[in-house]
Amino acid sequence: MIEKLKMDYGKFQLHAEGLKFGKGLHVVLGPNGSGKSSMMKGIIGYGDDSIKVRDIYYQGEHAGPAGRIFSYLPQSNPVFRIDVEAYIKLTTDCEDSKLYNDLIEMFELKSLAGQTIEELSGGEFKRVQCAQIAMEQKKIIMLDEVEQGLDLKYQHQILKWMKSEAGKKAVIANMHDAALAMTYADTVTMIKDGKVIEAGVSPHAITSAMLSECYSIPLTIERRQNSIAVFHTPL
Ligand SMILES: Nc1ncnc2c1ncn2[C@@H]1O[C@H](COP(=O)(O)OP(=O)(O)OP(=O)(O)O)[C@@H](O)[C@H]1O
Ligand SMILES: [Mg+2]
Repeated sequence: MIEKLKMDYGKFQLHAEGLKFGKGLHVVLGPNGSGKSSMMKGIIGYGDDSIKVRDIYYQGEHAGPAGRIFSYLPQSNPVFRIDVEAYIKLTTDCEDSKLYNDLIEMFELKSLAGQTIEELSGGEFKRVQCAQIAMEQKKIIMLDEVEQGLDLKYQHQILKWMKSEAGKKAVIANMHDAALAMTYADTVTMIKDGKVIEAGVSPHAITSAMLSECYSIPLTIERRQNSIAVFHTPL
């Protein structure tokens, strides 16, 4: 639970309070520069001097900075010239060989094993990173725009994986694809100009007006049985 989080970069301030992320998939939506990545960094405690107040609780206890409870996939990542297998082994201490092999299979990484991280496409690297996060088996997973760069098949595959992790723990995901988010999320939180404008709403309760207000453009949500689409009106 985020009791209170305040960050101040000078020209930009983030205020988040009273946000509860229990077991489930919690998507955070918001325009570019609204503060989504900053909120994630603040939750972990990466905000250095910008963090003014940081009161984050996990199961009733104050979560110290850079808590060992979080797995975190940043929005942008440095690339390395080491091979995929070495990278995974270096960045996780997974000693469970069954879990390791299952995840390599699930994220279809076998064929990439001999390549270096530098040689992977954007989406292939994302799959490696998701496998790495799954191997860490931390209590809370935070993913910053994980769906970016993934093709349509892998977007759904990764969202399905997030949903299955969310059955056991809290998964917090910053996303831009509102339709994909509403298809899979248990709750949706909207951030605009450094402020939480919708906190933990059920995706069924999100209206076109709420989404239009968040992005400051006219948007229409259409729901058909299991599928959700978001339509733009040409400006
Ligand atoms: N380290 C920093 N120092 C100063 N300003 C920063 C820093 N990091 C982010 N900002 C500013 O804070 C604001 C929020 O940035 P943030 O990265 O949190 O946005 P975001 O919602 O994740 O956007 P996007 O959808 O583009 O990823 C932006 O105006 C950005 O320029
Ligand atoms: Mg961001």
